Amino acid sequence: MKTEYYCTNETCSHTSPNAMLKCPQCGEFGTHKYRTVENLIAYATAPIEREPVTNLADVQSTEYARLSLCESGIDRVLGGGGIVTSSCVYFCGSPGCGKSTIVSMCAGRLSHAGYKSLYFHLEEGKAQIKKRMERLGFLDSHSRIELSSAHIVENMIQQIQVHKPDLVIVDSLQKVRMKDPMGEATHMKIAAATFSRKAKDLGIPIVLIGHITKDDKLAGPRMVEHEVDAIMMFEKLRISGHRSLGLTKNRDGNDRETALYRMTDRGLVEIDESDFFMLERSTALPGVSITAAVNGTKTILCEVQTLLSPVGSSDFIVSGYDANRFRMLAAVANKHGLIGSIESKKSIMGDVPGGFTIQDRGADLAWIAALHSSVHEYVIPEDTVLLGEVDLSGHVRSIADIEQRLDQIRRLRFNRVLVPLANMRNTRDFGLELIGVRNIKGACETIRDLAGS
Ligand code: TYD
Ligand code: MG
Repeated sequence: MKTEYYCTNETCSHTSPNAMLKCPQCGEFGTHKYRTVENLIAYATAPIEREPVTNLADVQSTEYARLSLCESGIDRVLGGGGIVTSSCVYFCGSPGCGKSTIVSMCAGRLSHAGYKSLYFHLEEGKAQIKKRMERLGFLDSHSRIELSSAHIVENMIQQIQVHKPDLVIVDSLQKVRMKDPMGEATHMKIAAATFSRKAKDLGIPIVLIGHITKDDKLAGPRMVEHEVDAIMMFEKLRISGHRSLGLTKNRDGNDRETALYRMTDRGLVEIDESDFFMLERSTALPGVSITAAVNGTKTILCEVQTLLSPVGSSDFIVSGYDANRFRMLAAVANKHGLIGSIESKKSIMGDVPGGFTIQDRGADLAWIAALHSSVHEYVIPEDTVLLGEVDLSGHVRSIADIEQRLDQIRRLRFNRVLVPLANMRNTRDFGLELIGVRNIKGACETIRDLAGS
């Protein structure tokens, strides 16, 4: 019988024929354990299934149906319309961020809508789940939520096949085991692959909940990223009770959509991101400007803040925007004489308050204006929003989704928008004062005139 030593560190899968004091892959001491490899050989030599091939024309589009999870934020983040019924989604986040809460809300609402969920509760007892459902307001006597504490993947699959639910929740994947003992990393990988395959075979969506530990943020997602169709993340924001939902992978849609939630006494409530980022607006100060950034299908209004300081350890300290792009913008502003002499300032800082990351070049002009106002110590009018991409020549280039942005700007009651001149054509009347700008110099002069200094 063949034997081997394997590393029990959950993030490592190293194996070796000899005992080792220190694992050469992860560097941990004393993690190697002894096992027979009959089981692994059995997997490798299992008879190959004879699967028929299908002509593309014969594939039914119903195989790509979506099931609304009755929670608009999740439905939108997963690609609009809900979860693809043959998909397996890995849903991760730090402990206590609300993963079990939000999937319970989905299961409860699905139950009201007549859909059956199978909830594998591997971390909490049945009474705890019931208490949570009560707290969330799902107290019906005709619940369509089936609870199971099965944790061996083969048994879980069997239960799914017998009960044929509309949605499967596994809370959490870290607790799932195979019949044959293996290291935790191998368990997670094989279990995720097995669930993924079953979701496709049975046309039943499966949500696998996973943890992210503080020290190794990506250990869980990395291990299963090739096995699942989407990786959805729930992150705690700096402001207490607020969570951001997003994706790092999505085979069935884009991965840029986000949703913002607030934890209340009765579950999570989605809140508008612009309302959130504008809630805590800074009092009017030099160095602050407002832009409307497109993120997935949504427009988010947010502040950008800059500070030029003689104190600091680095030339550029940037958070919430691509640091290279920020450096480039500062260099272009410098070239056009808008921020004096960069050399005399030790640190140039840029920040998007609230923890939001702007991935949209339409915010370029707002950064330049913020730098200009910081250096020349004037306050950009609070009712004004700045839009435009800036190129190396200092030209303000047109941006996409202009109408979507103007619509949101009007909704949040701003009055005036500086837009790239090229975008002024073909733009509907939104009841906003639009000022077309061609280059950064003109834009900064205009904004300083508006500020009245
Ligand atoms: P939970 O969903 O159990 O987190 P996770 O599964 O990600 O570990 O949520 C945990 C926290 O949320 C816990 O501190 C209690 C709190 N909570 C509320 O504030 N309101 C609620 O309605 C619920 C159900 C939980
Ligand atoms: Mg939980």
